[in-house]
Amino acid sequence: MNRPMRLRRTSLTVPGTSHKMHVKAGTLDVDEVILDLEDSVAPSAKDAARHQVVVSLREGVLGTRTRAVRINDATTAWSLRDVITVVEGAGAHLDVVVLPKVEEPGQVRWLDQVLTGLETELGLAPGRIGVEAQIEGPGGILGLPGIAAASSRMEALDFGPGDFCAAMGIPVLGVGEVTQGPDPLDHFRLQILTAARRYGLHAIDGPTGNIADVDGCARAAARARALGFDGKWVIHPRQIDPVNAAFSPSQADVHRAERILKAYDAALRDPSGARAVLQLDGEMIDEANRRLATATALAGRRLGMTRSAASAPLTG
Ligand code: COA
Ligand code: MG
Repeated sequence: MNRPMRLRRTSLTVPGTSHKMHVKAGTLDVDEVILDLEDSVAPSAKDAARHQVVVSLREGVLGTRTRAVRINDATTAWSLRDVITVVEGAGAHLDVVVLPKVEEPGQVRWLDQVLTGLETELGLAPGRIGVEAQIEGPGGILGLPGIAAASSRMEALDFGPGDFCAAMGIPVLGVGEVTQGPDPLDHFRLQILTAARRYGLHAIDGPTGNIADVDGCARAAARARALGFDGKWVIHPRQIDPVNAAFSPSQADVHRAERILKAYDAALRDPSGARAVLQLDGEMIDEANRRLATATALAGRRLGMTRSAASAPLTG
């Protein structure tokens, strides 16, 4: 089954227990909402949270945003019941399951099989529910290619910086803390990005825990975007606008990309000589520029941004 093309500039996490916050999430400008059954839910509230998530999904409060649920990790006593309750209760209203603390490909395969069993039993479209694997420990990093390829349901690799620092002994106290100078986590982000690109998945950065420091969150988002990431988790409404902005191309970049594509397309069509290289505003433009410009133009078109009237066709 071909996975749908989704946007994931912002993935808002919301505690599974709070109906009020689920309703609010459905009014916010985010691409995805992740209703959480894991770390934001106390052990004593796991069952109540599952049922609240089912109710909210069935009510449709998240509207057209991608509807995700983060279950507990595969080694816990909660994860199986999480999947069964949510898919039995609201499987037709669920787009993605987020599996945290993935340390080996077998954990993704386990989730895949449970989902397949439930879809078959319940008469749901087979394979429709996607999976995001959260990478939060050394096994997750070392197993990246296997995890990325473990299931045709895989849609994204999500970095979990808080648990990752805890698992690795990296001395920080805040989640997604912005460091001065080179960020030691960027090394791992790039490994995640590489596996994501190799297997055609989204690479999504984790949240910035300091919700008072909006500028710090914006800087972290810009940095993740510069590395090549597709989006970032957000945990509070005030983080949404800067993160959406960081993962959207600027209007100037969209215009420039469209201009490159148009000029390159015209050069290739020029009957006087099939030279696949030209100069535009002092810059050499060749096939690599076309590929780069295609990514930006495609992002701009998907977001409905303004473009020049006669744009070149997008290929590859
Ligand atoms: N989703 C939806 N709404 C949210 C929200 C979220 N993640 N975080 C805050 N809000 C809402 C609040 O309910 C409040 O709504 P209201 O004005 O209609 O009453 C408004 O935004 C302002 O919130 P504020 O008072 O500043 O924060 P808070 O003290 O209510 O909540 C947190 C702070 C950190 C507890 C909350 O942001 C949160 O739970 N975030 C997600 C945590 C999570 O999912 N963690 C696990 C994954 S990393
Ligand atoms: Mg975590």
